[in-house]
This record gives sequence, structure tokens and C-alpha cells, in this order.
Amino acid sequence: MRSVITGTGIGLPPHVITNEALGGIMDTSDQWIRTRSGIQERRYAEPGQGSTDLGAIAARAAMADAGLAPGDLDAVVFATMTPDHVLPGNGPLLQAALGLRTDLPTFDLRQQCSGFLYGLELADLLIQSGRYRRVLLVGAELHTGFMPWHLGWDTLIGRSTREVTEAEKAENTLSRDRTVLFGDGAGAVVIEAKEGEAGLLQTRLFTDGTGAGVLTMHGASFKRRPFVTPEQIQAGETIPVMSGKEVFRSAVSLMPQAVREVCALGKVPVEDLGLVLVHQANLRIIEGVQKALGLPPEKVPHNIERYGNTTAATLPILFHECLKDGRIRPGMLIAFTALGSGLHWGAALYRA
Ligand code: UT7
Repeated sequence: MRSVITGTGIGLPPHVITNEALGGIMDTSDQWIRTRSGIQERRYAEPGQGSTDLGAIAARAAMADAGLAPGDLDAVVFATMTPDHVLPGNGPLLQAALGLRTDLPTFDLRQQCSGFLYGLELADLLIQSGRYRRVLLVGAELHTGFMPWHLGWDTLIGRSTREVTEAEKAENTLSRDRTVLFGDGAGAVVIEAKEGEAGLLQTRLFTDGTGAGVLTMHGASFKRRPFVTPEQIQAGETIPVMSGKEVFRSAVSLMPQAVREVCALGKVPVEDLGLVLVHQANLRIIEGVQKALGLPPEKVPHNIERYGNTTAATLPILFHECLKDGRIRPGMLIAFTALGSGLHWGAALYRA
């Protein structure tokens, strides 16, 4: 039995935010964002939309693509670092939104950028156990909740026409190294037990918590009493902090290494890979992984220019787009790889 992706779907929110628009509320430029990260625009959700809502759009599309009704699913895995609530997780909210059976477990994963990879592993283990045959895996994020909305961000989504003050611009500029990189979005896949050559072949997952500090968030922490205060928000502590250069260095060395490891486990030469789908955090990182693996650029696709970094959603969105535009063909060998907060990283080898 293999774990085979039989349906895919995406959930993209309505507001397209260009680099120029961000330049209106902080000291940044299209040129800086484009050259450092490759991002040209990203999507922002409607106020009130949550990662469960975007996940539900993606999940409904994935189920329709797989030809399944809600009652056909046996388990749900939901990966997000931006859940609707601290509790409960998005899993039960999605179960209710989709009208799924109640005799079905939902697992909430929080491996951030590696969430989809960890979800693939978990879905595969559920299927290989023989207890579940049809698993819905969702990666969805609502990063706009991190943004300092009190500083005039409403103008970006057309909810306000007021001029952002110079003082607000100066404050927005304090977090520009992070806020410009992220977007909202969701991707979902249905994974089913099938006989045959296609399916998940190998996975390698890693954790190194000594690197937890390089990408973390200090505010809204249960080590604080109370866990969140207006002062924390004022001080920008509810926006994640990142040592960008350290994460960059780890990403360009550990992701290619993980891809090589799954290829070795699967006895597949790296050059036999049809596509390598890399977590979309930075175009320079994606190009670094491509060069480290010695592959031509067309084998390492990207869509970061349109969506920015959507954390757990980047890989299922990219997989969906490559499948629907014909870049993924039956029988093709594909590697997935990601690295992010944790540090968590890894790779998966998959035959389409
Ligand atoms: O998905 C999670 C995993 N995350 C990643 O993989 C991200 C990995 N890291 C990166 O992608 C890059 O490190 C960044 C894109 C985040 C940053 O690029 P960088 O080349 O490391 O830039 P930097 O942080 O060293 O900043 C360079 C300069 C600074 O100015 P000074 O100190 O040299 O005068 C920043 O203040 O660029 C300035 N800067 C900006 N300027 C305009 C930082 N952010 C911006 C901005 N607009 N948005």
C-alpha cells in the first residue's frame, strides 16, 4: 500500500498586496523586497477570515478533485502556525466547517514551515498503520494577524483612506525585515491508500531545538503573566523575530542535504528527480538549493513572487499549481523539502 495524493486544492484570499503598496506604509521599496526575496506581491485575507476558513476552501477543492464526499474521509491533519485560536486547534473547526464525520481524529501540527512535510509523514504513518485509508492534509496560514494593524495597515486592503502618519511609518519600518515577507494562503491534499508504484516513497525529518531562538516570537507566551498584554503589542513582541542570515545559511545547506538523503534511501539519483519543490521562503534560498543539487532551474519551480512566504501552505500550493499546469506528469519523481522555525527541516520523495 502506498500513500497517494489523489486530490489537491488551494485557498487564496482576495487582497493582492504589491511591494509598492507596502512602501506606502513603511520605509521599504519594491527594489529591496524583489532583490532580497524575489517577492513581488502577496495575498491578505479579509478581516474576520481565519486560517481554518482558507483551509476549508482548499480542503473542499481537494475533496472535489479526489471525487470524495465529506463522509469519505477517515482522518484530518492540519498544519498551521497561525491557528484561529490558541484553543481549540484548527482540526475540530475544520471538521465542523466541512461537516466531516465525528468518528474521525483530527491532528493539529505546529512545525511551522515544515508543517506540510511533517503532515505527509503523519498521514503516511496513519495509512500504513492500516487504520485509516483517506486522510485530508491541510497547510494554511493567516499571517496578517501578526501585522501591526493599529499602524495604518487597513489602507492596504482598502478599508481606510487615511494617510499613514510619519510616526506610524517609522514604527512599521521597525518590523519591515519580516512583515514584507509573509502572505496568507492555504493548500490541501487528499491522501489515499492505493496499490501501485505511485505515492510517498521516503521521508527524512529533522529537529534541532538549539536553533529555536533564530525564528521565534517572544510575546503571547505562556511563560509571561498574563500571557499577552497591550505593552507586548506596543513593543512589537507579538511579531515573530528572525535571524534572517542564520536561517538563510541553514536553509541552503540542510535542505539539499535532506533531499540527497531521501534520494539515497530511495536509491534514486538526484538527477532523476523531475521536480524539487522547495519551501517558498526566499527566491535566493530556492536558487541556492537548486544550485547545490546541481539541477537546472526549470526543475526547481517557484511561485514566491505571487504569494510571498505562506509557511505551512507553500508546498501544497506549489504542488497544486505544478500538477494543474502539467509540470507534474504521472510517474515523475518529486522531492519536497522545507526548513523553518524549530528548527525543523526535512525532505520527502514522492512518485506522481
Ligand atoms: O520561512 C521561514 C524561514 N525563513 C527564511 O528562510 C528567511 C531566511 N532569510 C532571508 O530570507 C533573508 O535573510 C532576509 C530576506 C530575511 C533578509 O535579507 P538580508 O540580506 O539578510 O538582509 P538584512 O536583514 O541583513 O538587511 C540588510 C539591510 C539592513 O540595513 P542596514 O543595517 O544594512 O543599513 C536592513 O535594515 O536591509 C534593511 N532592510 C530593509 N530595507 C528595505 C531590512 N528589511 C528591509 C525592507 N526594506 N523590507
